Amino acid sequence: MQLPSLGEMLACVETPLFWVGALTAASLTLWLVRQLVAGFRIWVMGNGDLLSPKLGKWAVVTGATDGIGKSYAEELARRGFSMMLISRSQDKLDDVAKSLESQYNVETKTIAVDFGRVDIYPKIEAGLAGLEIGVLVNNVGISYPYPEFFLHIPNLDNFINNMINVNITSVCQMTRLVLPRMVERSKGVVLNISSASGMYPVPLLTVYSASKAFVDFFSRGLQAEYKSKGVIVQSVLPFFVATKMTKIRKPTLDKPTPDRYVAAEVTTVGLQDQTNGYFPHAVMGWLTTVLVPINLVIYFGMRMNKAQRGGYLRRRKLR
Ligand SMILES: NC(=O)c1ccc[n+]([C@@H]2O[C@H](COP(=O)([O-])OP(=O)(O)OC[C@H]3O[C@@H](n4cnc5c(N)ncnc54)[C@H](OP(=O)(O)O)[C@@H]3O)[C@@H](O)[C@H]2O)c1
Repeated sequence: MQLPSLGEMLACVETPLFWVGALTAASLTLWLVRQLVAGFRIWVMGNGDLLSPKLGKWAVVTGATDGIGKSYAEELARRGFSMMLISRSQDKLDDVAKSLESQYNVETKTIAVDFGRVDIYPKIEAGLAGLEIGVLVNNVGISYPYPEFFLHIPNLDNFINNMINVNITSVCQMTRLVLPRMVERSKGVVLNISSASGMYPVPLLTVYSASKAFVDFFSRGLQAEYKSKGVIVQSVLPFFVATKMTKIRKPTLDKPTPDRYVAAEVTTVGLQDQTNGYFPHAVMGWLTTVLVPINLVIYFGMRMNKAQRGGYLRRRKLR
């Protein structure tokens, strides 16, 4: 029997190969068009009008006296919400409240509590009683003073409790207090400020990174539970923002001011359950999760944080 020639074999597979190629090219084009349309909807058109007092008269912001939380408080007051500000020091709360009242002519209330403690929630519950809350921003959070190996963290026992109470317990407990009325009224928005550090393990910031992964998972699961009840829960994962926490003094395109970050983030509410909140951060999020293998991200995270740790300890002469 004579074997078919190469030309005959190619002729046999030519048509199936053509269709596989055509279908692959069509799927890729469709995917690209969908990405572009979704990107245009989120980052160009936005959903700027969703956050309004139609959701409820009051907005509550934790960690409202500085950085990203203060910017949320200003943005929501500008939109006409009465503001409940919750943070640690009464002096700073009074300053922010006064400034919001005079700038935006809105009512304000404050509660001074330390989210490092777990006995504060009856006080917060009493302060929130009777308020029609349309928006809750679970923003309060703390990070490391400098990147450090887990076992070398000074006062580790206290450090763990404090970080878990501020970064995790506050989010769950504030949600416990605010969500029931939102569900009853079938409307409300909960913005949980996680971090890009919660998108993958970050060596030398392990407790912070893991606490932010908790916030992300909690938020996305909660959104699935309560979406049908009319409540929006969004997980917000910023990369660097120029605040007291990051000690970045000079904002840049990829490290924006908190005002700039929040102005961009609020337009994504209702469009994305999980967001990096700001277009350059979304590009960074896409690159680091889709294009770069996770082991490489962890490796570079380790290198970067080791270098920062070295610099910090040299400056402090702690070595
Ligand atoms: N900045 C970033 O690059 C970045 C990136 C990703 C995620 N995040 C997240 O964004 C959130 C805000 O960060 P930020 O950079 O804006 O922080 P920030 O500038 O340090 O401000 C933190 C705010 O929280 C308050 N606060 C801190 N510890 C508290 C406590 N134990 N009890 C009550 N209030 C407390 C502070 O009040 P006092 O002034 O009284 O301390 C301040 O109002 C955090 O959850 C953080 O993890 C930030």
